[in-house]
Parts: sequence; C-alpha cells; structure tokens
Amino acid sequence: MQPWRFLCACDMQPGSPRSFRYAAKCRENWYTALEQLRDEEAELLIVGGDLTRDGSIHDFELEELQAELGSLPYPFRAVPGNMDTGNKHTDIAHLKSHAQVTGEQLDRFAQVFGELPWSFMHRNVRFSGIYGALAGSGLPHEERMWQWLEEELPALPRADHHVMVMHYALFIDELREANWDLTNPDENTAWYFCIDEPHRSRMFAAMQASGVEIVLSGHIHCRRPEQVAEGVRFFKCAGIAFPQWADRWPDGDPRLGYHRFEVSDAGISETFVPLPVESASDEGYGPGGHPSVDQRDYSLAWEPPPAEVLD
Ligand SMILES: [Fe+2]
Repeated sequence: MQPWRFLCACDMQPGSPRSFRYAAKCRENWYTALEQLRDEEAELLIVGGDLTRDGSIHDFELEELQAELGSLPYPFRAVPGNMDTGNKHTDIAHLKSHAQVTGEQLDRFAQVFGELPWSFMHRNVRFSGIYGALAGSGLPHEERMWQWLEEELPALPRADHHVMVMHYALFIDELREANWDLTNPDENTAWYFCIDEPHRSRMFAAMQASGVEIVLSGHIHCRRPEQVAEGVRFFKCAGIAFPQWADRWPDGDPRLGYHRFEVSDAGISETFVPLPVESASDEGYGPGGHPSVDQRDYSLAWEPPPAEVLD
C-alpha cells in the first residue's frame, strides 16, 4: 500500500473582533496553523472540537470556520467542543459547570458541520466522531449517541484501522482512574477536561466492540505523548489558540500545533507538527470563561458585529 496521511487539529478557537470579546493571539495562531495546514500533503483533516471561541452563541463564528477549513486542499470532518456547543453536564453548580451543552446548540453545529455522531471510511481506515460531553446530560442527543455507539457503530463494515475523535479526553491519567471532584479546587480542572464514570467505561466498552484502535481528543491544550490503555492508543492533542496545563504531566508538551498521521502497511504512526511561531500578542478585550448574556458588551467590538447578535 502506498503510504498516505491524515491530520488532526484541535482547539483553534480564534474568536472574532466582531464579538463581545477577543484575544488577538488566538486568531494569529489559527492563521499560522491554517497556512501550515494548507501546505500539507494530506488526504483528510480531522478536527477535534473548539473550532470557535463562541460558536455556542454565534452562528457567524461557526460559518467562518466552515469557510476557512473548507478552503484547505483536502476535506475535513469535525466534532464540536464545549466552546462550540456548551460544557459537560453536572447537577453541581460551579464556575466550571455552567453554560452546559444544549440540544439547540448541538443542532446549530450540525447544521453547519453535518450530523453527529458520524462515521465514514477513507481508504483502509474508519473514522468516527462523537461529542463525549453529552454523557450524563439526559438530552435526546445523548440517547442517540449511546444507541449509535452501542448498536450502529459495531455493525458498520470494519476497516484495517478505526480512529475515534472526541473533544473531551476520556481520562486524565489512567483509563480506570476515579472520578475527579468538581468541588475540590485541586481537582476541578481535571474534572472539566474528561469524562466521568460510569460514562467513561461505557464509552470505552463501545469503542472496543467497534475495534477502535486510536482515540484522539483535544480540550486540554497540552499535548501528551501517546498512551496505550487496554490495547487502545490515546492521543491528547495539542491546542492551536493558546496553551494550558503545561505543568500537569512531566511529559506534557504545551507547544501549539497539530498532528500528522501516516498510514502504511506497518500501521499508523504519528508526528507532532508545532507552529513555527506562537503569537505573543496581549491585545484584545472582554471577559474570559463562559460569560452570561448580561456580561456580553458588543460595543467593545473592533469590527461591526453582525446584526443578528445586536437584536
Ligand atoms: Fe474545549
């Protein structure tokens, strides 16, 4: 077989100077990555979520990324992230658990980027995508995800390899680790980044039943070298907009960039491709986090906001 390549990019979330908030460095880093991606000789790009900074609020951010990713010389397929569709659910009220994913936000993402979950074959690889943070939400979309994972996906034709992409990491340190405690300040970031039990084991069992070999995730913005757990290869992917959690793991790599995978008769091998330069800009405006409606001041915008957000 002639070797061929696919790519994985996550967390570009450039934001927009037409928004109520903006950080120039995120957009600069995305455009650096976009030009790099344009020069890749790849057949496919998998996007691991957080395409936008506020796509969960702004259709225009979703549409902008659809156009930019669509301008690449090869096709792409994306799963959403929490900035596109909302955060992981819990009943515990906390700074890290508001702005939870809604069905309406998922439907808006699907209108621009296609139905979720998805699975397709390219050459000898099956690619599948879910939004794992739906687990525990109780949304009809969650029921659909489980039915698809447990009944439909295992029945699809097998390929030589199966690659699954999800925005949240399935786990932080170890596949069978205990749940992280949202109410514990030392653990709430870990809670925010991964999938809780019992959903994690249920998801992993479904992946194993479908022959998943590689799991790609974003969200953390700190790359970690490949981890193998119970025979499955996990890649915590680099971010593109900005780095996070640089000191969490001794082997964590906060450099920005994306991942190149080469498929050959020997299997699938991965190479991290760092951005050649990371923006040092501190220009921008507006609040961080997940601000409520009354915290969004569009009069700060550097460029005219779309009429739809001013209604
Ligand atoms: Fe995220």
